[in-house]
Amino acid sequence: MEIQLTTVQYFELEKLALGAFSPLTGFMNEDDYTSVIETMRLPNGAPFPLPVVLDVEADTAKQAFQLGQIHLAFNGQVVGTLTPESYYPKDINGVTEKIFGTNSEQHPGVRNFMLMKPWLLGGTIKLDYRMQFEHSDYELTPQETKALFKSHGWKKVTGFQTRNIPHRAHEYLQRIALEISDGLFIQPLVGQKKAGDFTSRAVLAGYQALMQNHFPKNRVAIGVLSTAMRYAGPREAIFHALIRRNYGCTHFIVGRDHAGVGNFYGLYSAQKLAKSFEEDLGIEILALSGPFFSHRTEGIATERSVPENLIGTDDIVEISGTLIRQVLSGGKEPDPRLIRPSVVDALRGLDLFIKEDST
Ligand code: ADX
Repeated sequence: MEIQLTTVQYFELEKLALGAFSPLTGFMNEDDYTSVIETMRLPNGAPFPLPVVLDVEADTAKQAFQLGQIHLAFNGQVVGTLTPESYYPKDINGVTEKIFGTNSEQHPGVRNFMLMKPWLLGGTIKLDYRMQFEHSDYELTPQETKALFKSHGWKKVTGFQTRNIPHRAHEYLQRIALEISDGLFIQPLVGQKKAGDFTSRAVLAGYQALMQNHFPKNRVAIGVLSTAMRYAGPREAIFHALIRRNYGCTHFIVGRDHAGVGNFYGLYSAQKLAKSFEEDLGIEILALSGPFFSHRTEGIATERSVPENLIGTDDIVEISGTLIRQVLSGGKEPDPRLIRPSVVDALRGLDLFIKEDST
């Protein structure tokens, strides 16, 4: 028997096998799933905030379980094996509310979750073949990043998650990291994203321009992370931090509305939750305030560094991914104080935005 994986499922398998989701090594069983949803921890107490599951139809689940071992395939190619240990229903009481803080179908994570098949097949996995994707040349395994950091002699390494092209607020956060750590590891997420998000090609092109022209070559590294964006805000900040720990980072930036979408989460809820898990996570959370452009300051600053009476006035220009998306799609020449011209140049001729949701 063979189960055909979607891209999202293939990436889950691959990340499990590479140790990116350590200590998790296989698709979650029911006790893992309920424990993660209820407590944001695995049954042994290790922080783990989001489900990593293999969703299938009921008859597939039953049949696979009876067989004891099955092939996993992607695009017709056998890529691995699963030894099923359990199958159980996806829908448990209040699951989307617990994971995403909402049941709204306006939320892309909720929508994707509801589109998943109704049964989950848990068990141990083996990856036998790694597929190639558009951005595979830019992807490093946890072993490779650890070796890279070691070869640079970096002990203190800050990880940076992103799904956007770099704007000056991101860069400000990255420069803070460069001031206080030996190296910065920028790891753009290139798995499933929602319609309207930047294409991964545009994100990479933007970062290549930034790294080429504005960052030290020996202190910044880039490698993509192929996994689905879940838009789970606070829970996903913990998830992103534990993944970067597994890639060898010692520090991780959580800025404003990390992994958020629309107005579903408070601006600093992700920071607060990630910080509260910091000790058990084994990676230091750099909870950084939201940088903006301040006219009086004539540069990027934060509420921690400008005169108090400027806050809330039109001295301050907020820089968000949403603003940059609007500016770039409006055909206007973007303000260099908000996004670097070299980054804008690198985007010319590229498809900037994802047109449709995918699986
Ligand atoms: S995310 O969904 O991957 O978190 P994004 O690429 O925008 O989105 O953000 C990457 C990191 O930068 C996150 O930690 C986020 O909190 C932070 N960030 C993005 N924009 C800002 C901003 N204007 N102010 C503060 N932090 C920001």
